[in-house]
Amino acid sequence: MSNQKRIGVIGSGYVGLVTGACLAKVGHQVMIADVDNSKIQKLNSSECPIYEPGLEEILWKHAWKGNLKFTSDMEALVTLNDILFICVGTPSGEDGSTDLSYVISVAETIGKYMNVDKIVIDKSTVPVGTGDLVGKTINSKLLERGVEHSFHVVSNPEFLKEGTAVKDLMEGERIVIGLNKDRVDSDDVLKNILEMYEPFPGKKIVMGLREAEITKYAANAFLMVKLTFMNEIARLCDATQANVMEVIEGIGSDSRIGEKFLLPGPGSLSGSCFPGYYKAILPDSTKITLEELYLRVSNGEKINIKSTDHLITKDEEKEILEVSKRTVEELIEFTLSDGRIIRCTEDHLFPIIRNNSMILKKAKDIKGDDLFVSSL
Ligand SMILES: NC(=O)c1ccc[n+]([C@@H]2O[C@H](COP(=O)([O-])OP(=O)(O)OC[C@H]3O[C@@H](n4cnc5c(N)ncnc54)[C@H](O)[C@@H]3O)[C@@H](O)[C@H]2O)c1
Repeated sequence: MSNQKRIGVIGSGYVGLVTGACLAKVGHQVMIADVDNSKIQKLNSSECPIYEPGLEEILWKHAWKGNLKFTSDMEALVTLNDILFICVGTPSGEDGSTDLSYVISVAETIGKYMNVDKIVIDKSTVPVGTGDLVGKTINSKLLERGVEHSFHVVSNPEFLKEGTAVKDLMEGERIVIGLNKDRVDSDDVLKNILEMYEPFPGKKIVMGLREAEITKYAANAFLMVKLTFMNEIARLCDATQANVMEVIEGIGSDSRIGEKFLLPGPGSLSGSCFPGYYKAILPDSTKITLEELYLRVSNGEKINIKSTDHLITKDEEKEILEVSKRTVEELIEFTLSDGRIIRCTEDHLFPIIRNNSMILKKAKDIKGDDLFVSSL
């Protein structure tokens, strides 16, 4: 393989589309495939199924240049490319376990069509041991076909955030590459992956396959611990009339702790408890009732809505992570100074400005002279 790689990306969601686009941007020959034909049709008509700043510009530029293609032909994707990325969803089941059926189905497809040696890179977030399972699945398909091809399964977890995905991928702090270092082909596999990622400035961290799979879960878990911890401190501040923002600055300035991922958010402190007929704003500025939002998110659809960060410094898009619904007897009603009426449950938290700093207050505790951030 030369420095310009032939790369097949399976799954055209956030991770697959952005990964494929960024790899095409640095000069590789990329094909992106999806079982959802409507997504591929959209992409082939220059319609992007998701919104990510900077993404469309790269997609259409490289589709036009000819080094980025979209297809539903899995056989072509597997046979024409040397490096295959698995970027399909891994949703959580009700018991918290990971649904690996999409990953396994991709491994079967690879085994079904593999014609020469391949590098198979898993970018989906998967529990430890999945790389081995992918390897076994590919092998059993090869066995069924009575053919022998060598392949190496690599774990390359993704750390991008929706909303800044292109930037995160192009300029990410680190690129974790996990592979089975005991295998004789591992030096060659690693060389190819390092060549592929050469234009990306992030620190390349090479480790074992299982270590890379654990790294992704450990990183996610650590960030959640930080956030959850800070939400508890925010509750304490709320109960003791202390300003949580000052506490954040106080602890975040300690380099051992760091200021990132310490900001508590009303959304994660409590659910938004508004009536179902209230509307949220979608990224394309159309509106959707909370009732419909609830139905669609409960059906597994990923939906981003327009939001503001809790410091109200900038507008951004946020993915709905969880939805819940409950029946209440009574709703509280406020009339804002501009005449707008807000209805919500009495435990709904609102950011309120007091003495130039923000605190969170339950709707039932809000007084007449409290200043809503939305009225600033
Ligand atoms: N979205 C993120 O911010 C993010 C960040 C880091 C890691 N991840 C992880 O990356 C993985 C992908 O996430 P995503 O957000 O891109 O998911 P997604 O749901 O947006 O996209 C997955 C895509 O895979 C396609 N697909 C499913 N089965 C397929 C198959 N057999 N063959 C071809 N295509 C198939 C689906 O049609 C869909 O378009 C998940 O494991 C996720 O946890 C996501």
